[in-house]
Amino acid sequence: MDFTELESAQVVTESFAGTSDPRLKDILTHLTRHLHAFVRDVRPTLAEWEQAIGFLTETGQACTDTRQEFILLSDVLGISMLVETINGPDSAATSAGPTPSTVLGPFHMTASPCRELGDTIDLIGSTPECVIEGQVVDTTGRPISGASLDVWQANDKGFYDVQQPGAQPPGNGRGMFVADNVGRYWFRTVTPCCYPVPTDGPVGKLLLATSRHPFRPAHVHFIATAPGYESLTTHAFVADSEYIDSDAVFAVKQELVRDFAIVDDPAVAARFGVTAPFRLATFNLTLVET
Ligand code: BEZ
Ligand code: FE
Repeated sequence: MDFTELESAQVVTESFAGTSDPRLKDILTHLTRHLHAFVRDVRPTLAEWEQAIGFLTETGQACTDTRQEFILLSDVLGISMLVETINGPDSAATSAGPTPSTVLGPFHMTASPCRELGDTIDLIGSTPECVIEGQVVDTTGRPISGASLDVWQANDKGFYDVQQPGAQPPGNGRGMFVADNVGRYWFRTVTPCCYPVPTDGPVGKLLLATSRHPFRPAHVHFIATAPGYESLTTHAFVADSEYIDSDAVFAVKQELVRDFAIVDDPAVAARFGVTAPFRLATFNLTLVET
């Protein structure tokens, strides 16, 4: 078969006929069909094609041990969120409604330090203080004793520790907690704020060229794990945060938005080891059995 505009995809997919891994063969066949259809639709000039290659090259070159520009590209194009949504818990599957998943993001690149329940993950002593507490349960509402909770968030200026080595102590804003024997957990932190995704690379240029803002609403990341349950990657979002309706990476799900209430009562503050006023949020997590 000749390589013509109409038959190009078929010529290329046939070249994969000898692929022994059926899943790889299927993925390459679909990739070829969609990419060829895209090129036929868009009809790029040679100069535009070179520009596209240049953009992807720059994206790869921007990646380092502490920066993942390809994940960021996938995030701002909504692909990370689509993959999460396809693979995450099916909220309609059970009446108890498992907690939805959302994007991992590019800043979970270092092991979170183990901490005791009630510890703070803010190693700097920033304000306003915040307490997050909740319970990890299964889809029948039974507590999951000893569930692990890996949490991470940006500091009060909107930067992760890995973005500011030297300025922030390693592990700032991160903690690995083990829920108690009735699945309860609680920890102290600084109240999360909204922040821009990194804009000094090729993805930033894409956002600028499309007049899109780079901000994410205030949030705390969680990965909840327990033997016998699907691991859950998610966020708790702050209800009154700016950008809650226009997250740059499309990761907000209404079930994950929480009231971070302002608490003025010094007696309540003393119970949690913080100073009033502080913010208090409850974030319960429902995991799905494997
Ligand atoms: C984050 O929340 O850490 C994040 C997610 C996607 C892109 C950039 C940052
Ligand atoms: Fe984040």
